[in-house]
Amino acid sequence: MSGIKYFPPNLDVKGKKIIVRLDLNVPLKDKKIQDATRILQVLPFLEDLIKRKSKIILISHLGRPKGTRNSNLSLLPVYKYLKEKLNTNMYFYTGEINDEAKTKCSFLKESEVILIENIRFFKEETENDENFSKKLGELGEIYVNDAFSCSHRKQSSIYSITKFVKEIYAGPLLKKEITAIDSVIKNKKNPVTCIIGGSKVSTKIGVISNLVKIASNIVIVGAMANNFLIYKKYEIGKSLKEENTEDIVKKIFGEAEANKCKILIPEDCLVSKSFEGEAISKDIKFVEKDDIILDVSPKTIKIIEEIIDDSNTIMWNGPAGYFESKNFALGTNAIAQKISKNTKNRSLISVLGGGDTVSAINKSGLDLSFTHLSTAGGAFLEYLEGKDLPGLSVLK
Ligand code: 3PG
Ligand code: MG
Repeated sequence: MSGIKYFPPNLDVKGKKIIVRLDLNVPLKDKKIQDATRILQVLPFLEDLIKRKSKIILISHLGRPKGTRNSNLSLLPVYKYLKEKLNTNMYFYTGEINDEAKTKCSFLKESEVILIENIRFFKEETENDENFSKKLGELGEIYVNDAFSCSHRKQSSIYSITKFVKEIYAGPLLKKEITAIDSVIKNKKNPVTCIIGGSKVSTKIGVISNLVKIASNIVIVGAMANNFLIYKKYEIGKSLKEENTEDIVKKIFGEAEANKCKILIPEDCLVSKSFEGEAISKDIKFVEKDDIILDVSPKTIKIIEEIIDDSNTIMWNGPAGYFESKNFALGTNAIAQKISKNTKNRSLISVLGGGDTVSAINKSGLDLSFTHLSTAGGAFLEYLEGKDLPGLSVLK
């Protein structure tokens, strides 16, 4: 995407208050960070700002708390982690976004960092409220969006805030992501296969009806697949699903046919009676009312592997199963290995994205290589569609 104003590496930032919007939305379990990739990726930029003596105000969301405070979604573990990594004074601000916040930020000394508690604890954030955005913008003098993975969200700290800060830029991680994805889009070779999984069905399902225009195959796995299975009248038991998706799934099949794009949904699966239970392999026809579908099974894996072998470009977002349990990481790991092998052996162009996908890759412990691994999931898919993402349009 052209026209984006990038943070000039030699900008004089000494003594300046810089608001940096990051994506510190890392997977947590019992308040412990499960995968720190998103944090590690922004450390070099933060270290650089610290070295150059700016005053740094960090904003991020974590999960979807829907405008209420929720201690399970506090950024406190992230604050502790950052504090350990960054060699400077670091503060955690848990108050309202008001004059007190402004005063706290104005008291920052050179090279100090303040992290604001989960910005989605305020409902105004997701509502993209003007007044709230103004208050956020007043915290600093320069604004940097280094959260490509949130740039598809028209929310205060990504979108409207930019009206209230004079100097606004895209950060270095955002630049790296866009440059890499642009190069994949430019160099992609047919056949293109998109593999879509994960559990954020509602925010991704719409994207598929556009991806059918650029792909020869779309492979649907993970919780996303359950909605397609329901549409095909299969029993999915107690599996995760999204309500009222029949129309969009119907539309996807229609558009796919019109664009000669094949849609593949699982033919067999691993089920269990609970998320932590043993895996039982079943044909999709035999799923029972109290089963939970938690992964794909060998027959489906083989079909996906053949599709990968026959593709020249792969775009993958979202795990194939509940990879958090090793019993259900079979599909995700098999797909990752097959893509990696093809990338190494015959220069398959492979681009993968999403917090969970990256986390699954790290958790697999496998030695894998891809053309590009993106921190972004939803944003990555929407960018692939060729959409002008709200968070990027305001950085031009
Ligand atoms: C992500 O994890 O994809 C980003 O942090 C965006 O999160 P969201 O889908 O809740 O907006
Ligand atoms: Mg995510």
